[in-house]
This record gives sequence, C-alpha cells and structure tokens, in this order.
Amino acid sequence: MNQAIRIKENVYWIGVNDRRTHLFENYWPLPKGVAYNSYLIVDEKVAVIDTIERNKMEDYVENIERLLEGRPVDYVIVNHMEPDHTGALKNLLARYPDAVVVGNAKTFPMLRNFYDINDHLLEVKEGSTLELGRHALTFYMTPMLHWPETMVSFESTEGILFSGDIFGAFGTLDGGIFDDEVDLDYLEEEISRYYSNIVGKFGQAARAALKKLETLPVRLICATHGPVRRSTISDIVAKYHAWSKYETDKGVVIAFSSMYGNTERMADEIARGLAEKGIKKIRVHDTSKTHPSYIINDIFRFRGVILGSCAYNTDIFPTMETLLHELEQIGVKNHLLGYFGDKSWSGGAIRRLDRFAENIKWEVVRAPHEAWGAPGANDREECREIARAMAERLHALYP
Ligand code: FEO
Repeated sequence: MNQAIRIKENVYWIGVNDRRTHLFENYWPLPKGVAYNSYLIVDEKVAVIDTIERNKMEDYVENIERLLEGRPVDYVIVNHMEPDHTGALKNLLARYPDAVVVGNAKTFPMLRNFYDINDHLLEVKEGSTLELGRHALTFYMTPMLHWPETMVSFESTEGILFSGDIFGAFGTLDGGIFDDEVDLDYLEEEISRYYSNIVGKFGQAARAALKKLETLPVRLICATHGPVRRSTISDIVAKYHAWSKYETDKGVVIAFSSMYGNTERMADEIARGLAEKGIKKIRVHDTSKTHPSYIINDIFRFRGVILGSCAYNTDIFPTMETLLHELEQIGVKNHLLGYFGDKSWSGGAIRRLDRFAENIKWEVVRAPHEAWGAPGANDREECREIARAMAERLHALYP
C-alpha cells in the first residue's frame, strides 16, 4: 500500500519508492533504488503536482482516491514531462476525467506525442498564478532542467518550491522523507551522481534557475526525487552553485581500459607517481567494471583526469569509448587532462583520445604516451612524467 505523508497542512507527499528497477532511464544504475515524488494539495481545489513512473500507478491512484474520500482532482500540474513523472498521468485522468492538466507551451506537444492527451489543458507562463484556495501556485520556467519544457511551481503560503528534478537524488526514501529524517551521508553519492549525470550537462541552465529561484522565500523544497528539504536548503543550493560552475577539489581520477593488464600497469605507475608527488585524492577506475556514471561523478569532484586505454581491433576499447562519449555529451568543463594507451597490435586508442582532447578542450598537462604490449622501463618513466606534470599543475592551482 502506498503512503501519504503530511508535509504541511493539507499538503501531502504521495510518492513511491522503486527498488525493482535496475537502471534509471534504462541506463543509470540504481543500487539504492529511486523515489518518484508526487505531491497533493487539498484545498478548495485539489491539485496533484507531478505523478510517478507507470510501474506503480495503480496503487498510486488508489492512494489518491483514499485520501480524497470522493472529492475529485481539479488540477494535475506537469512540471516535467519525462515519463518517470507522467507515467501515471493517463491512469489518473481516466479516474478523474474532468481534471485540468497544467503545463506550459512546450509541455502540451509532448503530452500529445507521448500520451495523446489533447483536452482539458491549462497553459501557464512565467509568473502565472493558479489559485487553489488558501494555497496558490506560481509557475517559473526552468528550461533544460532537464528537458526543454521543465518548470517549477512555488506555493507562497508555506513557501514550498515544487522543483521537479532540480535538487533531486537517486536513492529511495526508506521511512523518512525529510532531509532531517534520513541519513544524508548514506545518500551523498546518489545525490551528486544524480546531479553529475542527469543535470550536469545543463550547468548554465542550472545557474540561471538558481538566480531566478533565489528571489523566492523558499522554506521547503519538494523535488521529484530524493528527500524533501527543510533543514538543508542552503547546503543543497550551495552544492548546486559549485557543481554548476564545475568547481572541483585537488585530486585525480584515473580511468583505464585494459584487456590483459598492460594498460592497468601503466595506470598503477601513474597513480604511484601522483602519490609520490603528494597527491592524496586519487581514484582509479576500470571502465570494464565501473559504470561511467560513477567515474563521471568522481570527475565532477576532482580537477585532474588521466585516461588510458588499450586498442581494441583498430580503435579504442569499447567501455572507454562509452566514457568518452558521455563526457563529450555532458560537456564537462574546467579540468586538467593526461592520457596514455597501449597499442596491442594495431593502435587506435591514442587517436581517439587525441580527438577527445580536442573536443573537450581541457588543458592537456603533457603529451600522451603509447606503449606496445607490456610496458617497459621507458614506458614506465613516461607514465611517471605524466603523473609529475599533473601533480605540478595541481599543486600550482591548489597551493
Ligand atoms: Fe526525473 Fe527528468 O526526470
């Protein structure tokens, strides 16, 4: 059975936990699950704010029916069209056919194309207000957080920001739903991994949204994923500022792809070289084992990135290609880069890494090195040179 948890007078969390889905958007691992948060305001008018993914929609609609005891839903606010928040919309509208769907000019073509929903639509614009009785919702457009149609709803009586994906997180809400009821340390990586992989591409949009939202007297943040924020609003806002500006710590992420261990030996040589030069925060990832979302999350944390790959046939190893593609797609900025490879019998890895360096436009600390087969003394020395160059730049930037 689903739960309804009172957030404020006549305002409820009616979300669900998803512990079964392995991959969010069928791509991002969910080791701690994910919550789809939906909210209900029961006033002179009844409004549902964002719905949930379709896999739990029957329980969800029953839960709303139970809470409303025969009253209808008047409005469904679609802050964000992505199906993890609109999956239950058709079911909800089938139960409440007179409900009006509230969105903006970019929402409705998506509703038509995804769900063939064409009627009972109310279009809102920047600053439009919807009166519900004691509560009213004002809408602000926050495009590309993280689709073009995204907006947020601000409830002014209690100061509640229904923020959509902004300030969201992976991880289920296990009992507690408020930030001061849950173990934020346990969720920390899932909060930053959600930002870096889902929102991270849109740093400029995030900065614009923060500027806009900082003018509002927010006392509660109700995102569509992760805990409801009431005690740590300034903390998460500060994190968003830092992340959206690609602020990083002194440290190095080494990601390697290796078939038979030769490229890994080079990665270890570099890691040791960094440690001997006083770099403490070193994270070494094998791209065949670690999903790119974790590597990218570490890259959002640390300034230095060193990438190494063996060749695979005549190109780079496939799991390194996936990582490079993701980084290029996200367009992560403001890093130092070193890279190396092992050419097996054909070469190809360094060619692709050269192209990556051109695309991503990070500062390259030293020319790359490519070994052939097992790294010899000269290859190991070249790896040490990459480590030395990276350490020197980091010490200069973070004295
Ligand atoms: Fe939680 Fe962009 O969907």
